[in-house]
Amino acid sequence: MEKGYWEKIAPSYETEIFDVLKNDTSGKIVKSILSFAGPKKSVIDIGCAVGKWMPVLAPVFGKVQAIDISNNNLKIAAKKYPHYTNITYERVDMSAASIKIKKYDSAICINAILTSSLKKRNLFFKHMASYIKKGGDLVLVVPSLESKLFSHIIANKYNVDDAKKDKAPTGKRAISQIRFIKDGVTDIDDVPTKHFLKEELELLLTLAGFTVEKIEKINYKWSTEFHKPPSWLKNPQPWDWMVKAKKK
Ligand SMILES: C[S@@+](CC[C@H](N)C(=O)[O-])C[C@H]1O[C@@H](n2cnc3c(N)ncnc32)[C@H](O)[C@@H]1O
Repeated sequence: MEKGYWEKIAPSYETEIFDVLKNDTSGKIVKSILSFAGPKKSVIDIGCAVGKWMPVLAPVFGKVQAIDISNNNLKIAAKKYPHYTNITYERVDMSAASIKIKKYDSAICINAILTSSLKKRNLFFKHMASYIKKGGDLVLVVPSLESKLFSHIIANKYNVDDAKKDKAPTGKRAISQIRFIKDGVTDIDDVPTKHFLKEELELLLTLAGFTVEKIEKINYKWSTEFHKPPSWLKNPQPWDWMVKAKKK
């Protein structure tokens, strides 16, 4: 999922892209954000897209910096929330070799570290850490590799959505899928997307200079994975990982 993809999808973003805020019916992400919010605090939303989190952030933080790689997404976000005067929008590529860094009291980054490129992810983590002041807070949400594999196992075992009719990839596509899965990269809507293990996240964030305070599942309905989930399929539900961490 690179810049071109996000620019192209921007006009149909609302229907095409999974809405984490809407689907987190537990409210755990909002609760975690509110735990460090304040009128004198600043927050940066990294990978803000069309600004879904602005109505959560703008009323409770003094200053909100909203950044994204996609100009089109940023334009849509700015148009949607003209009444929030404490938001600044800026185009930033978090995977660029170097970026201009200002420091913020806190950051959120919700399903934005998705690139299949290890080099780009390394830069993304490095810049994310640089944006946050010492002692500052981070809420990070990423796709879970455990959840993705669990869904595949359920689909194959119980032939959910006629999974048994899916044709196995062959040739170059098969080779690239095997290489990718070893790195936790698997398709979402036919786009190779990085998924993370819990232990991997803990290590990556520790090495990036954070103290991990908690890692929790954000559970979603099975209908977010399958067109026709079997009626007996209840728990465990599919999930993303949410990390709350503090910058050392
Ligand atoms: C799935 S959307 C999530 C948007 C938003 N955080 C939300 O929860 O609604 C991922 C966003 O990350 C942005 N993104 C991806 N790679 C990026 C990068 N290298 N630098 C900045 N933004 C990036 C995309 O443009 C896209 O808007």
